[in-house]
Amino acid sequence: MRVFIVVAHKFKGEINLNDLPGSGRIDVVCRCINAAIFMSHRIRKDVEFYAYFPNLGVRIRIDSSRVKYLNPDERSTAALIRNALKQGATEEEKTSSPGFYIKKSTFENLLEEVSSKYSLYYLHEEGDDIREIKIKSNPAFVLSDSLNLTEEEEEIVNRYSTARISVSPHSLLGSHAIVITHNELDRRGL
Ligand SMILES: C[S@@+](CC[C@H](N)C(=O)[O-])C[C@H]1O[C@@H](n2cnc3c(N)ncnc32)[C@H](O)[C@@H]1O
Repeated sequence: MRVFIVVAHKFKGEINLNDLPGSGRIDVVCRCINAAIFMSHRIRKDVEFYAYFPNLGVRIRIDSSRVKYLNPDERSTAALIRNALKQGATEEEKTSSPGFYIKKSTFENLLEEVSSKYSLYYLHEEGDDIREIKIKSNPAFVLSDSLNLTEEEEEIVNRYSTARISVSPHSLLGSHAIVITHNELDRRGL
């Protein structure tokens, strides 16, 4: 399995399908989902994707092996997220559509849950070069959105993660960092 966790700081809960950037930059999350799950004419079946919304204290989990109705375009992905939010998050994880699950969570509880099953890494511009470090099987990667993680979030990530990893000498879009990460893992057969 490969896990990606994207922290969406700007999202406040409302999605206008005709204005995704104006909907708390939900377009960024949709692009990260696309990068994590889609290949050409097929989807990766071994991905778990988490969108974490700090303003709501909610996480949406996508299990790519079970997902249905997910298409590569951002609008229909945003519609599935909106549908999940309409179900309303509770302490119990609920299914909103096949492969989409919603639950209330703190950021710390999310990382505790993920790091109990996977080796957690922090994707960061100033991390160790991905080409130089050993990555364990079943890795999980935390990314931020267009904002950096807050100091408090970083402190939590540092406690649960194994290493900070950089995938490029440049600062990239989160979705592009996901594609490069997949490429490195594909080449290693991880
Ligand atoms: C658009 S960037 C965040 C904003 C950026 N730090 C800035 O100063 O504008 C989104 C996320 O992608 C990941 N990312 C971007 N470039 C990366 C790199 N070279 N290596 C690893 N992760 C990267 C990081 O998790 C980052 O928080």
